[in-house]
Amino acid sequence: MFNLDNPSLLRSQAFINGDWCAAETQKTFAVENPATGAVIALVADLGIAETSRAITAAAKAQIGWAQTTAKARSQLLRSWFELLIQHQEDLAQILTLEQGKPLPEARAEIAYGASYIEWFAEEAKRIYGDVISPSTTDQRILVIKQPVGAVAAITPWNFPCAMLARKIAPALAAGCSIVAKPAAETPLSALALAFLAQQAGFPAGVVNIVTGTDSAAIGAELTGNPLVRKLSFTGSTAVGKQLIRQCAADVKRITLELGGNAPFIVLDDADLDAAVAGAVASKFRNAGQTCVCANRFYIQRSIYTEFGKKLAVAMEALSVGDGMDSGVNLGPLISSAAVKKVQALVDDALAKGARIGYQVKLDQKLFSQGYFYPPTLLLDVAPDAELTRQEIFGPVAALIPFDTDDEAIAMANNTEYGLAGYCFTRSATRIKQFSDKLEAGMVGVNTGIISNEMAPFGGIKQSGWGREGSHYSIEDYVNIKYLCENF
Ligand code: SIN
Repeated sequence: MFNLDNPSLLRSQAFINGDWCAAETQKTFAVENPATGAVIALVADLGIAETSRAITAAAKAQIGWAQTTAKARSQLLRSWFELLIQHQEDLAQILTLEQGKPLPEARAEIAYGASYIEWFAEEAKRIYGDVISPSTTDQRILVIKQPVGAVAAITPWNFPCAMLARKIAPALAAGCSIVAKPAAETPLSALALAFLAQQAGFPAGVVNIVTGTDSAAIGAELTGNPLVRKLSFTGSTAVGKQLIRQCAADVKRITLELGGNAPFIVLDDADLDAAVAGAVASKFRNAGQTCVCANRFYIQRSIYTEFGKKLAVAMEALSVGDGMDSGVNLGPLISSAAVKKVQALVDDALAKGARIGYQVKLDQKLFSQGYFYPPTLLLDVAPDAELTRQEIFGPVAALIPFDTDDEAIAMANNTEYGLAGYCFTRSATRIKQFSDKLEAGMVGVNTGIISNEMAPFGGIKQSGWGREGSHYSIEDYVNIKYLCENF
């Protein structure tokens, strides 16, 4: 099943205080390949006791880690980055087997995750303070930045490498230690990253990975333990709200990257081929299982039919299958529950008047063994269809026509989410209008891909708090201390 150049990357034990450890109960859980349903690993199923142990180790290690120089932290992060790149092929294989995305996309995710580590290796050296002019001559006002302390991270299954890297790297750069809990569906990538962190030479206790299926218990410890000073979470808005409540008890700092419902707007003066290419890139990346992927396509009426036809033609190039097979560019969904949810959303849209414009035909064998959903184009979707309100998280493109720019903006903003939005137009005036008015933390103009390590990734409204990536992210991992010096 695995064919790794370095089999040591495949770990099944958790990583606490520099040691690889089993659950105290010796319990394990199965990790499945979503393309086949086959069990690919049995991983330590930790609970509260081990999580608490990891937190204590992280809090202790953080004291020494914070006293290292920024340059030393930067060099370790750089070594870790280089190890990821060196093992990109093996890491991609592990990722594809546990998550399902096609191997080329998994390779791209490893490079994407590594880019955050490289970025924060550089940013570690640029955490600047400030000197402020006082109102009297006998004072000096200094601002210094100090690490927040031990951090907890809860990461999702859709980007098991990149989401972890983009939380761990700024934390370590700032002088924080971390206890990360990867999703139970995809713990292997996180453990492989921890193995490489160990190889890079991070001190014991600075990076800890707790694996387990009892997310509620582990989450309660990560949020309830006062030694944890900050939580960073990527996942659903519902769970994010629960974590906010849990962190309220001791007023922990929180970064949240929550659900999205991205509108993808194509105006009548757009380059249609570019818009279709952007639509395919945004919608079908990771089989539609990304928080920033286009969820609702609003297409101006005069180009609606042509856009639909061109998108259907572009979708013919989607080759659905096991991500390990060559030529496949769209993998399975993460679980059978995910397939059922997508089907229910499509059924609701059809019942409300939508029609299928195109659907990729699936090999029946795929259907019977893995969690596949056929890429589907839905036309004339009612503006109140459930999939315009909920994240589809599947390969379904739902097209809705509109007449005026104001109408498009109103429909786009008619959601409690505000993560990403997209707009295609050649007009400078309309670019400004849509960039200003779309209620989202990130807007892609004439592009369907907006994610990179240099830019601040995050949302507004119920899509989250704080930003990940970019120099802004470091601010989430430091406390500002103001020193009033009197002479
Ligand atoms: C996500 O889906 O949460 C992240 C996707 C990305 O970083 O582009």
